[in-house]
Amino acid sequence: MATKRFLSGIQPSGELHLGNYFGAIRQHIANQDDAFYFIANYHAMTSTRDAERLRAFTFDVAATYLALGLDPNRATLWRQSDVPEVCELTWLLMTVTGMGLLERAHSYKDKVANGIVPSAALFNYPVLMAADILAYEADVVPVGKDQVQHLEMTRDMAQSFNATYGEVFKLPVFQLGTPEPVPGIDGRKMSKSYDNTIPIMAKGKALKKLVMSIKTDSTPLEDPKDPDTCSVFAFYALFADAEQQAAMRANYEGGNYGYGHAKLALIEAIDATFGEARERRAYYDAHPDEVEDILRAGADKARTVARGVLDRARAACGLG
Ligand code: ADP
Ligand code: TRP
Repeated sequence: MATKRFLSGIQPSGELHLGNYFGAIRQHIANQDDAFYFIANYHAMTSTRDAERLRAFTFDVAATYLALGLDPNRATLWRQSDVPEVCELTWLLMTVTGMGLLERAHSYKDKVANGIVPSAALFNYPVLMAADILAYEADVVPVGKDQVQHLEMTRDMAQSFNATYGEVFKLPVFQLGTPEPVPGIDGRKMSKSYDNTIPIMAKGKALKKLVMSIKTDSTPLEDPKDPDTCSVFAFYALFADAEQQAAMRANYEGGNYGYGHAKLALIEAIDATFGEARERRAYYDAHPDEVEDILRAGADKARTVARGVLDRARAACGLG
């Protein structure tokens, strides 16, 4: 049986954090053969208009993926904007997409409800995302829960195009990394836009400060505590195996174990998981040209695939 093609994109809109890791990136690193992962810099332009920051975060995403073990000999890693064919495909898909479908997008509605004045690009964000997925004939799209509706919309657009012009696009499925979003240090969903993240690459004092500020209740040290309502336990569980989780649960329920103790155990778990990646990250920071070469080679490979799909789509709808 042929391997299923995994594909996903991640926006360079801030430092990558533990929510991104457990929701999406961990699955990307675990599924690399014939996989396609890209840095969604066109999408990030819907929230940032600072060229230097966009460049810096684009490098940050690439270097973080490589440090976490993305192997460019197995998976293709590139910058979305190095394959401009996706913009043309976005147009073709827009012609078969109803306004109503886009108006129902939760992430668009949430942003508008939070006071963001929407650009046409923000409104059409899901169409570009569909083009990203369909251009590379993806089978499986590993993402966090907040992206599921976008995947459903992608399938709708592909079906609508296929029904109009014939079978051009393959329908992808999504795959979740965690059943629910990872919480941030303030208890809301961890997100770059809420300033409540623990960056994957945080370490030392900065990491300690963030972990120590995870919100907990005021149960006294001596009293038993409920692990199931505690964010510190929820974080620890992401890193720990069943036995370690059972031991931590017993600490909580036994009393005389404070949230401060649990937070120190969490810092140890974070250090143990990401220690080596931080060292590899330092290597890529010192060798940015290597990162650039990897992204360019990735774009060449990705572009060949996208070109083929776009040509079929153009022919199907009578262009050229
Ligand atoms: P952010 O909300 O921080 O801007 P992105 O929208 O760039 O994150 O998300 C990148 C990937 O990480 C997506 O697949 C998204 O679903 C996933 N993700 C983001 N935050 C979380 C979270 N708190 N828990 C689980 N997955 C998440
Ligand atoms: N919208 C995604 C996010 O914010 C990023 C993204 C862009 C993406 N294109 C994609 C994810 C294609 C999966 C597939 O996280």
